[in-house]
Amino acid sequence: MRSIAIACEKGGVGKTTIAVGLACGLADRGSRVLLVDTDHQAAATRWLGREHLPGLTRAFSGQLPLERLIQPSCARGVSLVPASTSLVTLERTLDGDPHALFHLRDAVDELDRDAFDYLIFDTPPSLGIVVNSVLCAVQEVIVPVEARPMGLAGLRRILATAGRIQRRYHPGLSEPRIVISRANHTAVSKTVEAQVRKQYGARVFPTAIAERIAVARASGMNRPASVHDAGGPVARNFQQFAAEVDRIEVLPPIGRGAKRPRPTVRGATAPTPQP
Ligand SMILES: Nc1ncnc2c1ncn2[C@@H]1O[C@H](COP(=O)(O)OP(=O)(O)O)[C@@H](O)[C@H]1O
Ligand SMILES: [Mg+2]
Repeated sequence: MRSIAIACEKGGVGKTTIAVGLACGLADRGSRVLLVDTDHQAAATRWLGREHLPGLTRAFSGQLPLERLIQPSCARGVSLVPASTSLVTLERTLDGDPHALFHLRDAVDELDRDAFDYLIFDTPPSLGIVVNSVLCAVQEVIVPVEARPMGLAGLRRILATAGRIQRRYHPGLSEPRIVISRANHTAVSKTVEAQVRKQYGARVFPTAIAERIAVARASGMNRPASVHDAGGPVARNFQQFAAEVDRIEVLPPIGRGAKRPRPTVRGATAPTPQP
């Protein structure tokens, strides 16, 4: 089972669109996918036809196995762990817990590794305890970069955060990969895309996610874009991206960091790495 976080501190860059689109694209290729919605705003949960539930917060605090939270979704081949609105107060809930960052990782380790081919995490637009716990729990990270002038701003911060998590807590975390999001035919979009490809080279997926009205329309109707547009260009775009994700070799861990998988802090919340 490969585990992938779709992460970027910036909101509105296409994280949820890509998390759901990738899940559907991989499922179209025959993979069994579990999408975990860790954004308290629950957009992925709604698009996949479910309601938010309280359970995921308890998985983040070590009180409930993820397996108990798995539900079917409206997309064939995609199962869902719905978001919990109380994730927004997780930081306070886990105050003083020395293992705060690692409960989710334990919950992922306890999943039946043969039940799914892919575990995909949609994440909130922040760099707080939810995202840090997810980064401690996955092997891979994909960062959407919007093909817009400020697109690169969010990228540097999530790369720095992933680097810190890898050095301090998770030596096995791979070098994040990048996907261009909301690409269109404007000069600005093309310039930003070219700049990202020049700067990050092979870490950028060849397929960019195109900006299409059908994607916006599907989210307005609370439906996965690939399901709404089944057989159309949006679904094909995500299938092509999913094929690249399926094919890639997982990049080796970021640099060479201290091998310290668990914090030794006692009686205090494991520090959330600051950007
Ligand atoms: N490729 C795209 N084409 C058109 N609209 C898009 C595309 N990607 C995202 N959007 C729209 O932008 C908004 C924010 O996208 P979303 O995936 O929710 O971003 P995030 O999860 O990073 O906050 C949504 O309303 C979505 O419909
Ligand atoms: Mg989102």
